[in-house]
Amino acid sequence: MGLSVGMVGLGQFGQEFVGLFKSHPDVSRIALCDLSAERLARMAQQYHIRECYQSLDEICRSDLDALVIITQPWLHFEQVMKSLQAGKHTYSAVPPVFGVEGDALLEQCDRLVETVKRTGLNYMLGETTFFRRETMYCRARAARGDFGEFTFGECEYWHDLDEPHSNLREVARNRWGKDWGPDKRGHIPMHYPTHATASMVSIMKAHMVSVSAMGYRYPNEDWFLEEAYYRNPFCNEVALYRMSNGALVRHAEFRRIGHPGREGFRLFGTEGSFLSDPSGVRWATKSGWEPLDLSDVSEPLPEPLASNLGGHGGSHAYLVHEFVDSCVKGRLPRIHVWEAVRYVAPGIVAHQSALRDGEPLPIPDWGDPPA
Ligand SMILES: NC(=O)c1ccc[n+]([C@@H]2O[C@H](COP(=O)([O-])OP(=O)(O)OC[C@H]3O[C@@H](n4cnc5c(N)ncnc54)[C@H](O)[C@@H]3O)[C@@H](O)[C@H]2O)c1
Repeated sequence: MGLSVGMVGLGQFGQEFVGLFKSHPDVSRIALCDLSAERLARMAQQYHIRECYQSLDEICRSDLDALVIITQPWLHFEQVMKSLQAGKHTYSAVPPVFGVEGDALLEQCDRLVETVKRTGLNYMLGETTFFRRETMYCRARAARGDFGEFTFGECEYWHDLDEPHSNLREVARNRWGKDWGPDKRGHIPMHYPTHATASMVSIMKAHMVSVSAMGYRYPNEDWFLEEAYYRNPFCNEVALYRMSNGALVRHAEFRRIGHPGREGFRLFGTEGSFLSDPSGVRWATKSGWEPLDLSDVSEPLPEPLASNLGGHGGSHAYLVHEFVDSCVKGRLPRIHVWEAVRYVAPGIVAHQSALRDGEPLPIPDWGDPPA
């Protein structure tokens, strides 16, 4: 029996996933949902989809098996809870929880894990970094023991506020829509940490246990302001973590940087190291280094997804397949809820540390999934 899937949120990002879900051989029925009637009609026409819903409440009352939620970040938690409580397997875009108050967000992580446990349904986080070629390559080498003992990692998400191709001021205005106002300026860089942390956690199979972080204040700031909604003065934040395997990780979230932008990492071990920067990727050992060509790195995918990987380093098709396949086979998705909270909680606590000028703080953990 195939999976019936409802896609909730057909904005900039959600639109990129409709074709992939529709073409998955194990998806037997697909429905669309958006508050915007115009977007809904446009996507329904483009993909020849007849089943449409005008709100999350309405689609939750349907008999669909699964919902894919790609809405504004601050809506994910409440909407995922609603979807799980309606008995649907649920996928959400990153981050799983998002907002202003760190303690409230950590409580939301508690509730998310608890709800997944109680319902026995699948929750999967759509973290694109998990299926970037660099991450897949390093997971394979880590499984072969090629790093030796992990010693140090550096991970980063750099996205300048005024980046010409994806201007974050415009993104914020579009996402807030009619609720936009100058008070909504700014956001907390470390509250969007998953593109960086996912590489470290998923490759080392270890989690962050403590953090000391600091923030940078831009002298001519007009966006990251203590008096605005997020009460955040930092455009750039840097965290130093201790991992559960003893390794150290430095994590940089920059929103003001003279650089075209980057989601990436470097990872060092006692026997081998993975190096990456805009000039290329390399594998290093004690005797030298070799340039790497990762264009052939892949994992099995059904057609037609294998020949149409989609964006963010070709990760989209893998995310779609992982969610559909895990629901159809009744197995845990690889980016399950216990993994998802290990990507987001470190950033939440890092921001709390940065607000206290680097005070070392413990990072909560929700453990491994039950056997
Ligand atoms: N690399 C990545 O993983 C990556 C990249 C880009 C965006 N994202 C994430 O994707 C999400 C969406 O980003 P976007 O730029 O497409 O946002 P967007 O504002 O363009 O789209 C969100 C859509 O959700 C719809 N929506 C909101 N509430 C709804 C409800 N109750 N019922 C039905 N529809 C509802 C809105 O009408 C809108 O069309 C964000 O959370 C962002 O963090 C992730």
